[in-house]
Amino acid sequence: MRLVVCFAIKMQYRYFCIQEFEALCEMNEVKPIILSDVDKFDCNICPFIEVDLPDYEGARQVVSRSVMIKYILDPFSQGTSYEDLLVNVDKERLTESLHSGKSIKFKVESIKKKIKPKERNEIISPYGDYAPKDIVFEMKDPEQTYMVVGNPKTEEYYMGLEVACMSWKNNKSNFYAKYDLKARPYLGPTSTSHELAFLMANQAELKEGDLVFDPFVGTGSILIACSALKAFCFGSDIDLRVLQGYSVGKKAKKEIPGTEMIKRYDVFANFKYYGLPKPCIVAMDISYPTMLLKKFDAIVCDPPYGVKAGSKKTQPNDVASVKESKWKINNETTLGIFTKKESYGINQIYHKLLKIASFLLKKGGKLVFLFHTDIEYPPEVNEYPTHPCFELVHACENPLMRKRSRHSIKMVKICEPEDIEEVTE
Ligand SMILES: C[S@@+](CC[C@H](N)C(=O)[O-])C[C@H]1O[C@@H](n2cnc3c(N)ncnc32)[C@H](O)[C@@H]1O
Repeated sequence: MRLVVCFAIKMQYRYFCIQEFEALCEMNEVKPIILSDVDKFDCNICPFIEVDLPDYEGARQVVSRSVMIKYILDPFSQGTSYEDLLVNVDKERLTESLHSGKSIKFKVESIKKKIKPKERNEIISPYGDYAPKDIVFEMKDPEQTYMVVGNPKTEEYYMGLEVACMSWKNNKSNFYAKYDLKARPYLGPTSTSHELAFLMANQAELKEGDLVFDPFVGTGSILIACSALKAFCFGSDIDLRVLQGYSVGKKAKKEIPGTEMIKRYDVFANFKYYGLPKPCIVAMDISYPTMLLKKFDAIVCDPPYGVKAGSKKTQPNDVASVKESKWKINNETTLGIFTKKESYGINQIYHKLLKIASFLLKKGGKLVFLFHTDIEYPPEVNEYPTHPCFELVHACENPLMRKRSRHSIKMVKICEPEDIEEVTE
């Protein structure tokens, strides 16, 4: 059936719209046909695409954990203006739908334009001609929501039944709002935004019961999203301070209500706060992986990128050499054992990541990671890393300030390292 998908306008994540939609369809085994020209799609100009989906249920599954989809409509009319919608409306379908005996609500939305109550009533009231006299209007929790939506800039207008919406279960906020970084008890200087973490988990098509690994776990933002989506989570980080909660990782400055049960502010504190299972986290340098599990469904991560989180490795010729230091953790002095570290070259860390991912992922497993580009870098540094065991699925750009961008790259493992003759370093 032909449906209209309306995306939320989130400028920094605008390039994720189509890819997230396709990944969620794939994950839910919903076969979509995208009827609009996606090459011309720009949600900042027009947030609608037309798609062919098998049924309403598929649309609801896709929207239920989407970050970018605002709602999906079953259109009863399409046109270039509100007047046009009234002329083109499928009277028979609309009459039948409004006579279903269900309570209803009518919404009017204009892209990037406010609608005054008077105008809203003028737009809606002609549709009353197709409704029974005793129709029940229910503003809070209607059984059906009808929408008139328009984009005056591109003259694209739709009238239809809302099949699924971002907040259709509680009508208040989106499903991931409670994981907002601003209301999180334990944070670090590079904690990944909660929205981006959910987008990446969706790109990875993470399902309930999947095994997921974040080799650069830091304060755990990505694993929190994965755990909220009911995956089994594993993580590692070279830096004990961020895992154990001193110097790098810290208790949020703002007082967060409901944190009485947190006794220790470390990488596990946020999981406890959200009532999520404790993940399995080890201190590990990905240059010397000790992770033996080779059956991960996905690896999702935000590798270090030099500005706030420089990529480090344990000194190769000095792996066993350790230094002991006294550190204060949650007001207790502890003896920490640290190996000496040195910096990686600018892109070496990505090649290391692909190499360990080729061993740790199962065939068909997804690797989703953030890759940083800067127009001032030499062109070869801005090229996406490659590995013979991986095929690039897509990359979604997340523009940062001025000349810098990061790209959420999705790759799929297509073969085992032993199937190829030479594995690149
Ligand atoms: C961009 S931060 C990740 C932030 C994390 N997603 C969060 O929400 O806090 C990158 C992390 O990689 C870690 N790291 C740097 N080099 C590493 C290495 N060779 N092996 C493992 N972890 C490393 C850093 O300590 C840092 O915590």
